[in-house]
Amino acid sequence: MNAGIIGVGRFVPENIVTNFDLEKRMDTSDEWIRTRTGIEERRIAGDDVDTSEIGYHAAKKAIDAAKIAPEEIDMILVATVTPDQAFPSVACMLQEKLGAKKAAAMDVSAACAGFMYGMVTAKQFIETEAYKYVLIVGVEKLSKVTDWEDRNTAVLFGDGAGAVVMGPVSDGKGVLSFELGSDGSGGKYLYQDSHIRMNGREVFKFAVRQMGESSINVLEKAGLTKEDVDFLIPHQANIRIMEAARQRLELPIEKMSKTVHKYGNTSAASIPISMVEELEAGKIKDGDLIVMVGFGGGLTWGAIAMRW
Ligand code: ACO
Repeated sequence: MNAGIIGVGRFVPENIVTNFDLEKRMDTSDEWIRTRTGIEERRIAGDDVDTSEIGYHAAKKAIDAAKIAPEEIDMILVATVTPDQAFPSVACMLQEKLGAKKAAAMDVSAACAGFMYGMVTAKQFIETEAYKYVLIVGVEKLSKVTDWEDRNTAVLFGDGAGAVVMGPVSDGKGVLSFELGSDGSGGKYLYQDSHIRMNGREVFKFAVRQMGESSINVLEKAGLTKEDVDFLIPHQANIRIMEAARQRLELPIEKMSKTVHKYGNTSAASIPISMVEELEAGKIKDGDLIVMVGFGGGLTWGAIAMRW
């Protein structure tokens, strides 16, 4: 038995902010943003909508898709760096909103790699049979910590949520291998004081190296090779970073998920949002070998090889 995904859901706010909208607010251009990052637009939630509400909609869909009752959920893990407040956690807020009466609940803080950390944590509880069903939500309202005066970062981020329910699966499906890592010495390159601060070039160099390496490492750990990969879901930070990972795996372009143009970087939400969209588009099929890989502030990174 492995831990696998049995239900997925996503939610993004309706409000679209295009690069052209940003041109009116700061000294930037659609051309600069598109060529440097691949981003064309992003979703920005209203002032009255906080992280827990965005996450709730995605979580509800994932639970419905898994065809389980909220009362059956044993644990809720919310990957976020933009919680409503320091405590109670977003996970506890969702526990109440969802009516997940018996669930343990906590937030996971690993920035854009948070969803990988959440899935790997869930896997441990499920495969030891301590818990049966774990809800993992990746959700961010990055717009509330974005410095709208700083063009270096303001153009990059968006709001949204993706969620999965994990539970026991058979027939060689589910999570086959994982890698998690951190390097606190790089914390200075990407952090939040009142707002997000970033040394883009340093983060870029780290991300290009780590995304490729971690993807290869999880394949080796699972006894697989690049040729076995059916689909790559990289963290959607920047198309150039994603492309580097794809090229390292020698995958054709249609085998990599790309939603960064629509949503920008939604941090912990980007991998599950992309997963849901590719499933809905019929690009991920039963039995496919999927590699998911993310990196983020901390610095942190994480990758998973999974049989769908
Ligand atoms: N519009 C126009 N010009 C801009 C903008 C903008 N929005 N932002 C920066 N510039 C200018 C800078 O001022 C600089 O000008 P200068 O050379 O005159 O000083 C120049 O463009 C910057 O050029 P580069 O540094 O060469 O830009 P680069 O190709 O490195 O792209 C980018 C910058 C997109 C930020 C890139 O470095 C990157 O993607 N880095 C990784 C970012 C990332 O993935 N962060 C993850 C955050 S995830 C999390 O944990 C929350």
